[in-house]
Amino acid sequence: MSVGNQRRLEPVLRQPATAEEAELFAALDLGRLPRHVAIIMDGNGRWAKRRGYAARIFGHRAGTEAVRAATRTAAELRLSGLTLYAFSKENWSRPAREVNALMDLLDEYLVKEVPELMENDVRLVASGNLGDLREKTRRILDSTMEKTAGNGGLVLNLALSYGARAEIARAVRRAMEMARSGELSPEELTPEVFGQMLDHPELGDPDLLVRTSGEMRVSNFLLWQIAYSEFVVMDVLWPDFRRPDFFRALLDYQRRDRRFGGVGPE
Ligand code: IPE
Ligand code: IPE
Ligand code: MG
Repeated sequence: MSVGNQRRLEPVLRQPATAEEAELFAALDLGRLPRHVAIIMDGNGRWAKRRGYAARIFGHRAGTEAVRAATRTAAELRLSGLTLYAFSKENWSRPAREVNALMDLLDEYLVKEVPELMENDVRLVASGNLGDLREKTRRILDSTMEKTAGNGGLVLNLALSYGARAEIARAVRRAMEMARSGELSPEELTPEVFGQMLDHPELGDPDLLVRTSGEMRVSNFLLWQIAYSEFVVMDVLWPDFRRPDFFRALLDYQRRDRRFGGVGPE
């Protein structure tokens, strides 16, 4: 079942809007919003440093407020999916203190956020090598996913211990196992069939990929799924990302001429 094929309601700003937000919202073409947005939430460390904090974790903590704002905005706009790159496979190489603090923060977020997710009709799912997470975090994650499983609005997909190459390798392994058991013949393995073996194919490919804090790289995120995504890099550091920034990214997206290899509008 494709989430994107479900009937969508009209976008409505539920939280009160500032004059700036109202103006940006009015400029959006609500009939041409992306269905699935993916965000590389970068810049927490730089945010902490600029504020004079010695520990990067202050930036990560402040970043959870931006996660809340982005999720609310995506829900208000009736997007189908929001995938947030929260922790990469490579992030395990950070100092143990930072990794532990990040996992504590994740536990706290997953517990505290339930009422907010319920209120906004958000269903939580996760992508990545979830088996790498510590048992406590996995338990809390499972519990929050279960509690929100009946919500029919936005699907919030947290990429945790996520690496696109690992995801692709996992899918290849699955395909090979299916071939071995006779469920799938090598000739049947088309890009469409293979795409279904990746994490949460029901979200569809992201229409828009946003990266905050100015870095122009993909950092092993959704390599397969972003084949034709529009890429918006913003200077704002993730902890400062709020509704107007989301609207600006969407306006940038709407100025693009998506061609998918064709010639586009003549
Ligand atoms: C992104 O912020 C959050 C994670 C990778 C977990 P960073 O911690 O990478 O922040 P910068 O890039 O150092 O500013
Ligand atoms: C990408 O950010 C991963 C997440 C946002 C979770 P990084 O800060 O880890 O990426 P690099 O190291 O700058 O490529
Ligand atoms: Mg970074």
